[in-house]
Amino acid sequence: MKFSEFFDIWVNENYYKFGVDIGKKGDFYTNVSVGYLFGACLANYFLKLLKNGEISSSCKVVEIGTNSGDMLADFVQGIFTLEPEILSNLELIIIEPHEILRKKQLETFAKRFGGEVKIKHYENLGECSFDEIFAISNELFDAFSCEVIDGQNMLFVDDDLKFHWQKADQNLLALAKKFDIKKGEISTSYAKFVLQLANAAKKVRFLSFDYGEFEPKNEFSLRVFKDHQVFSLFEISNLALYFKSSDLTYSLCFKQVKEAFCEAGFEMLKFKKQNEALVCDLGVDEILSLVLENGSKQAYENAAKQAKILLSPEFLGEKFKFIEFLKS
Ligand SMILES: C[S@@+](CC[C@H](N)C(=O)[O-])C[C@H]1O[C@@H](n2cnc3c(N)ncnc32)[C@H](O)[C@@H]1O
Repeated sequence: MKFSEFFDIWVNENYYKFGVDIGKKGDFYTNVSVGYLFGACLANYFLKLLKNGEISSSCKVVEIGTNSGDMLADFVQGIFTLEPEILSNLELIIIEPHEILRKKQLETFAKRFGGEVKIKHYENLGECSFDEIFAISNELFDAFSCEVIDGQNMLFVDDDLKFHWQKADQNLLALAKKFDIKKGEISTSYAKFVLQLANAAKKVRFLSFDYGEFEPKNEFSLRVFKDHQVFSLFEISNLALYFKSSDLTYSLCFKQVKEAFCEAGFEMLKFKKQNEALVCDLGVDEILSLVLENGSKQAYENAAKQAKILLSPEFLGEKFKFIEFLKS
């Protein structure tokens, strides 16, 4: 089978579908598993846009690629702290194809807010038809399937989980040429997603954080995370030990993401390192000041520790990037 089919069977039809733990107890960390600060910063950004009229008071908040539901819950907690009066009119939506995850997300909201805050689920964006949405995601695109190319060849996977290379089809080679990719991963699933997103509302602001660079690096980045250890996919000798039961991911080429969005009528508003976005756009310092003024010493130390992980180049600050698009 093509590598993209193998990737989907591993990642989307198995690993994530069953509601994995992300964070200390899981295979890897994300911005969300660091703590509430990331979601609180997203809430701060939403409020800034609302205040300067860039989004309207009827704009719905939509999370895509959610897993536990904690990022949206942190967002809600942030709104509750910063501007509680808008909460009762705020519509919160999660796009979630997996039933187990929908249940997990409802449990997170019940545990964190009792019955006070409601979320609405849609299985896919194709079911949505809204006026205006503020769509947020963290590490969504690195779970989208990809092909792998090396020169004129593309990667295939046999039934016994062994890899082999074969001459790539013309469409894939044309895509590789367009982005000047000679070696590495190429996602073929952005266009369908972006079209659905464009049709989900008349006005769409979409934000995403993910691992990668703008330009292609022309190297293989596919890697497997298990119990916080990381392995290059091609150095694993017995793939059966990891297949479907650990995380498989790769670094994005954001140029491809940008192209897919622009072809569907979006404008790219921002692309920058995560630490720059958190400081210059999402106001992480404002949240930290608020905790310093109103919280205990321990609360501030906790928030500062989270900020260090989110912002430091040696942790998540620079390898992760922020990208923002608008369709109006
Ligand atoms: C790497 S996990 C990130 C989870 C969470 N956002 C975090 O940062 O901890 C990727 C998630 O995206 C979901 N996903 C992948 N493709 C999706 C799609 N087309 N629509 C909605 N969710 C999707 C997967 O099921 C998985 O829950």
